[in-house]
Parts: sequence; C-alpha cells; structure tokens
Amino acid sequence: MNYFAQRPNQNLHAFAFTQPHAGHSRLPYQPMVVWMTGISASGKSTIADALDVALQAQGRLTCILDGDSVRGGLCRDLGFTDSDRDENIRRVAEVARLMLEAGLSVIVALISPSSASRHYARSIIGNEYFVEVHVDAPLETAELRDPKGLYKKARLGLIKHFTGIDSNYDVPVFPEVRVDTQALSVEQSVQTILDWVARNHART
Ligand code: ADX
Repeated sequence: MNYFAQRPNQNLHAFAFTQPHAGHSRLPYQPMVVWMTGISASGKSTIADALDVALQAQGRLTCILDGDSVRGGLCRDLGFTDSDRDENIRRVAEVARLMLEAGLSVIVALISPSSASRHYARSIIGNEYFVEVHVDAPLETAELRDPKGLYKKARLGLIKHFTGIDSNYDVPVFPEVRVDTQALSVEQSVQTILDWVARNHART
C-alpha cells in the first residue's frame, strides 16, 4: 500500500470546534513552521537554535522539533528505512500543525530526505504557513565536519542507510529559503531566514 494513502475510518466523526485556530487572531505575528531540511552535519540544529533565540526576541512563542530529539521520544520506535523516515516526518508534521494551531512558531530540523515527504509535510501544515529552508552544505564539507562521527561509521559500513552515503537526499528544487552554510556564518544564515520571514510572512 502506498504509505501516503489515506486510511479512512468510517467510525470517526471530527467535532466541528467553534474556534479551531483560537490563538491566531490575537497574536501580533502569523505563526509558521520553518522546516529545515539538509543532510547530517549541514547545520540544521545549530541554525534552528540561533533562529529560535532570534524569533523569541521578536516576541514569538516558539518550539523546536529536532530529529535527534524526537527520535528519542515521539519517534523512538522508528529507524532509517525510507518508510520509517516517512513516518517520522509525518508525525513531526502533524505535531507541528497542532503547535501552529496553538499559535506557536515551530522550527523543524529533520533531514527529511525525500521531496515527496516534504511535500506531504507541506500539505499537512498548509502551504501558507510552511517555510522550507534548505540548509545546504556539500557532502564533502559535512563529512569533514562529522561532529558525531557518523559519516566515518557509515563509510566503514557500521551504519546502514546513511543519508548521502547509501541513502538518497533529494535536493530541494524550490525551497522558500536556501542557506549555504559553507559560505555563511550561523548569524548570516539566521538573518537570511529572518529577512525572508519579514518580507513574506508578516502579520496578515
Ligand atoms: S529523517 O531522515 O527521518 O528526517 P532525522 O532528521 O529524524 O532523519 O534524524 C537524523 C539524525 O539521526 C542524524 O542527525 C543522525 O544523528 C542520526 N542518524 C542515525 N542513523 C542515521 C542514518 N542512517 N541516516 C541519517 N541520520 C542518521
């Protein structure tokens, strides 16, 4: 069965809540989901952390959903096959949507390697709230950084399905923002994202 196929249950009847987006209209900013995609060691978590600080300084309520963290809890039953990654991304997208509805600006940092799964996440969250950021670094650079020693292990065959080594990464074709972390400092990457948000995502 196609993973993305819906699995309808005839016995579910969603209640029509009066204010499904109760927080939105009272907020001085439009909530959003900044979805950072990129290979391991591209800089996603570092930029997510600095972006979080910057968005909070603007008065936004924020939350970070980071791959290594969610995989210790919400997604602890999942591995790194294509279908497990798809499920990881689906769950995080659903949680991000709930947080968005509560008025938070959500920063997601997941490799999210397939363009189909990112497209699916966008459809869950809603195009108008979804800001795809490609945290871009060449594989050679990420492999030189290798802060967790995982590329080394993958090259030795000790980790299977490692993104960029024996598992594919679809480079985003039209992300809202691309930050080249080989050329930009963390501060410059964050500023690039903030500038995009200011231009395109002001209060409606
Ligand atoms: S995703 O593909 O499902 O989006 P996610 O971002 O949650 O991945 O997790 C990536 C993190 O898991 C990496 O930062 C790395 O620390 C760890 N990891 C462990 N095994 C792998 C693997 N085979 N491929 C990529 N990352 C892995």
